[in-house]
Amino acid sequence: MISASSDQAGKAGKDGANRSTAEGFGGLRVVFFESRLAAECGTLVEKSGGIAISAPAMREVELSDNGPATSFASQLLAGRVDAVVFLTGVGTRHLFAAMETVHQRDELVAALKKTTVVVRGPKPLRALGELGVRVDLRAEEPNTWQEVLAAFDANQSTFSLEGKTVAVQEYGADSPQLASGLAERGATPLSVAVYRWATPENTRPLLDGLREIISGTADVLLFTSSMQARNVIEIASAAGIVDHLRQSLKEVVVASIGPVCSQTLEELEIPVDVQPARGKLGALVKVAAEQALPLLEQRRRQAVPGPPPTAGRREFASDDPEQSLFMRACRREPVERVPVWLMRQAGRYMREYRELRARTPFMDLCKNPELSAEVAVTAAARLGVDAAILFSDILLIVEPMGLGLTYSRGDGPRLQHVVRDASDVDRLLEVDPDESLPFVMDAIRHTRSELPPGLPLIGFSGAPFTLASYIIEGGGSRNYTHTKRLMHSDRGAWDAMMELISRSVARYLSAQVEAGVQAVQLFDSWVGCLSPDEYREFVLPHTRSVFDSLPPSTPSLHFGTGTSALLDLQVEAGGSVLGIDHRSDLAEASRRFSDLALQGNMDPAILFAGPEAVRSACRDVLTAVGDRDGFIFNLGHGVLPGTPVDNVIALIDAVHEFGLRD
Ligand code: CP3
Repeated sequence: MISASSDQAGKAGKDGANRSTAEGFGGLRVVFFESRLAAECGTLVEKSGGIAISAPAMREVELSDNGPATSFASQLLAGRVDAVVFLTGVGTRHLFAAMETVHQRDELVAALKKTTVVVRGPKPLRALGELGVRVDLRAEEPNTWQEVLAAFDANQSTFSLEGKTVAVQEYGADSPQLASGLAERGATPLSVAVYRWATPENTRPLLDGLREIISGTADVLLFTSSMQARNVIEIASAAGIVDHLRQSLKEVVVASIGPVCSQTLEELEIPVDVQPARGKLGALVKVAAEQALPLLEQRRRQAVPGPPPTAGRREFASDDPEQSLFMRACRREPVERVPVWLMRQAGRYMREYRELRARTPFMDLCKNPELSAEVAVTAAARLGVDAAILFSDILLIVEPMGLGLTYSRGDGPRLQHVVRDASDVDRLLEVDPDESLPFVMDAIRHTRSELPPGLPLIGFSGAPFTLASYIIEGGGSRNYTHTKRLMHSDRGAWDAMMELISRSVARYLSAQVEAGVQAVQLFDSWVGCLSPDEYREFVLPHTRSVFDSLPPSTPSLHFGTGTSALLDLQVEAGGSVLGIDHRSDLAEASRRFSDLALQGNMDPAILFAGPEAVRSACRDVLTAVGDRDGFIFNLGHGVLPGTPVDNVIALIDAVHEFGLRD
C-alpha cells in the first residue's frame, strides 16, 4: 500500500501480473479514507488488483477523562439504566476498559444482566460474548439505527420503552436519529461517548489523496463511514479545493460501505455508484472491484463525443510526416516551433491506458496490433504531441532469444532464464524479427494507418548494453554486479553476447523502418552505471555497429540516463539525435554538440509540481538551447506512473507557446 503522498504507483498483489484481469480493479487507482483499518483496506484493494492509496480522513480520539464511561457505570450499578444499546465492537471494548479502571468486571456484568442488552450487529455481539455479557436483542441487517428501533418495536410485549432510560454506546459521532427514535417511543436516551472521531492531525495524506482525485489520477473512492465523507468535504473546503473536488468526483467511481454512509454522501451531493449488500469492508472492496471498470467505461461512452481520436488536439500543416516539425528538427532544419513528444507518453499515468490495461495483461497489449495501435494513437492525440511512439517494450526481443519474459505489476519485468557465463551465451538465440516478432511490425502498420498522415511514428529498441543488463541480471538492478562480473572476467563471452544482441537489434530496427516508422530511438537507459573507460571498451563498438547498420536517411535517436560523463562517447557510437537527461547541463551540451540534434531534458518529476512549475521548467529548457536548429523537447526520462495528466497537457501547451521561432 502507498500513502497518497508517495509519487510512485503502489505495488499490486503478486498475482496481479499477467493473469487475465477481466475481474478485479486491474490496476485502477483506489483512494480509501479508512483510518483504523487502513492496512486491511489496502491489502484488500491490492489483492483485488488495485493500486491502494491511503488517505485517512479521521482520527481516533480517546476522551481524556473517562467521565462519560464511569458516570454511566455508576448509573448502571445503581440500577438506574433499563436498557443498553451497544453499537460497535471497538466501542464496546473501549467502554469496558474505561469502566474497569474504577469497577470490577463481574459487578458490571451482573448489573448488565438486570437490563435489556441490545446489539446493533455481530461485532458488539462478539465483544460482549468475550466479556461474558448476555445479549437480549439483536438488530437485523443492514444493522443501522433503524433496525435497532425495529428490534425494540418487535419486542414491545416483553420490553416497552415507555418511561425507560436507554443508554447508547456512541461511536465517533452522535447518532441523533436513534436518540430521537427512542424519545419518540417514550424513553430517555442516555448517550455514552467513549471516543470520538476528529479530522486527522496530519491532513497531508488526505490532501494528497484529494489532489489525485482532482488531477484525474484516481479512479475509485472507498468511503467506509459517513464521518469520512463529512471530513473530506470539510478539509477540502478549508483547503479551498472543494469546487474542484466536486467537479472531479464525476469522473471517479464512488463506493459506500452502507446505507447510512450513502445517505450522508447523497446529502453532501456526492453521488454513490456502488454499495454492497452487506456493510463489510471485504464486501465493499469486492463490489467496487467488480463494478468499477464497467462503470468507468459506461461513463466514457456517455461523455459528450469529442473529436475522433485521430484528430487529436492539433492540426497538421502537411500530410507528409517527412515534413513534420519533428523530422525537420531531427535533420537540423529550421522549424516554426520546437517539436515535442515524451518518452512513455502512453502509460499508466493515463486513465484510458489503465482502463484498457485492467482488461488485458501488458504483454497481450503489446502482442495485439489493434490494441497496441489504440494505445499509441490515443496517447498522441490526447496530448497533442508532434510524434507518436510505437506501443511496445524494449524487452520483447529477449523472449525469442530463449529467455522467457513476464511482467508483474510492482516488480517490473522478469526473465525466466539469465545469462551468467560462456555456456549460457552459447545457448542464446539470434532474433529474426519477421519470424518471431511479427506482431511488432503489424502494430507499426496498424498504428501508421490510424495516425494522422503527417504525424511521424518512432520505432525503438533497447540498446545492446541495456538489453544485456536485463539478460544477465534477470530484471532491474541496482549495482549491475553480475553484468560487470561477466564484462570484466570473460571478455570472449561478453563480446559474443554483445555481438549477438547487436545483430538482433540491428535487424529488428531495420524491420521496423521497413514496416513504416519514420525514425528510431535506441534506449540505453541503464548505461549510466558505466565508467567512460568501460563504455569505450565494452559497449561503444557494439552500439556503433547498430547505428551503422541503419538506413542513413532514417533519423536515429540515441538515449541514455546518467550519461553526463559519457556524452562524447555516445556521440562517437552514433545516432543523429543525442538524448540529454535532466541531470546533464543542456546549455553546455548544446554548445558542445553544435553539429548534432539534441533531445531532452526536463525532469519528469517536475510534472508532479503543478502547471506553474511545469511552465517555468519548460521555459528553462527552451532558454538553455536558445534558437539552435535541431532541438526536440522531451523529458530527461519517461513520464512516471501517477503523473497528473493535466500537468502533462500543460507542458505540451507550454512548448507550443514558448517554443515558437521567428
Ligand atoms: O509510450 C511509450 O513510451 C511507448 C512504450 C514503451 C514502454 N516501455 C511501455 C511500457 C517504451 C518506449 C518502453 C521502453 C522501456 N521499457 C524502457 C526504456 C525507457 C526507460 O524508461 O528507460 C525500459 C527500461 C523498459 C523496461 C520496462 N518495461 C520496465 C522497467 C517496466 C516496468 C516498470 C514501468 O515503468 O512500468 C516495463 C513495463 C512497461 N513498458 C509498461 C509500459 C506502459 C507498464 C506496464 C503496465 O501496464 O503495467
